[in-house]
Amino acid sequence: MKKRILTGDRPTGKLHLGHFVGSLANRVKLQDEYEQFVMIADVQALTDNFENPQKVRDNINEVALDYLSVGIDPKKTTIFIQSMIPQIAELTIFYMNLVTVARLQRNPTVKDEMKQKGMEENVPLGFLAYPVSQAADITCVNADLVPVGEDQLPMIEQTREIVRRFNTLYGNVLHEPKGLVGSSPRLVGTDGNNKMSKSLNNAIFLSDSADEVEKKVMSMYTDPTRLKATDPGHVEGNPVFVYLDAFGTDKDKDQITSLKERYRTGQVGDVEVKKYLVQILNNFLDPIRKRRSEYEKNPELVEKILKEGTEKARAEAQQTLAKIKKAMKIDYFS
Ligand code: TRP
Repeated sequence: MKKRILTGDRPTGKLHLGHFVGSLANRVKLQDEYEQFVMIADVQALTDNFENPQKVRDNINEVALDYLSVGIDPKKTTIFIQSMIPQIAELTIFYMNLVTVARLQRNPTVKDEMKQKGMEENVPLGFLAYPVSQAADITCVNADLVPVGEDQLPMIEQTREIVRRFNTLYGNVLHEPKGLVGSSPRLVGTDGNNKMSKSLNNAIFLSDSADEVEKKVMSMYTDPTRLKATDPGHVEGNPVFVYLDAFGTDKDKDQITSLKERYRTGQVGDVEVKKYLVQILNNFLDPIRKRRSEYEKNPELVEKILKEGTEKARAEAQQTLAKIKKAMKIDYFS
């Protein structure tokens, strides 16, 4: 039997290059080897967007299109919508007994987000508890592996603790899942910030047009210590070169190496490097755009994929829940 993957994203915006290198690439790669479930986490998205349900609703389709366009194949991967699986909500309630409030308050990702959103004083219970719900997401199909961006590793750790506690108390039912981060676990933003993020306004989206990519790249942050093309420049940590390394193919390697050399020795201007990057990124994005436009022309197909995926995930979650309830001695009348 194949091992399982469960992973997902909050539908709060379009996915970007950071998502690609952090987790989407792994999902595309691993869908043959694993039985993969990918969730559009609308319930989790609502924990900090409950006042804006339309935003979450609109982004369900965006994220589904992003998945399909990068090559997550609905024949191999089950794509589903979180809120349509009531077993996850049920499981969240059971797991709440296994976690302390203090532990959730110490979760580094939750802590960062609370600070960012100014929630420290008035954190909604649903938001504080979302790692518990995420543990339910991961274990509702008893997943073994969770490909995610680096910022999500504390969530996997929290899930592992819940799983260990469950298994100790009620018997060995759940797998202890492992996190898996991509080749560039955290991609820098176009402004040089250490994280690409929609809210920081420094992202290149998978759905950006060739013109948008060009505009964003030509205004990218590079090496602030370099004033003219003849100054020796820094390559390490320079977003332009980080992207070249992340998105250049094998046949671009020699050209990238030579550009780096010329940059270090002050023999190339930023504009030439950026123009080359525009080309590399558009080569990378073109097949993604093509697949996207095919699915965009066929919204009934996208809906069918989500509906069938959701039904399949629900059937799996039902089976897992039956085992869990039996272990917890709440399997009445069966
Ligand atoms: N917390 C994840 C994010 O913000 C989304 C998510 C929800 C998730 N449930 C999950 C990721 C389960 C992995 C597994 O990106």
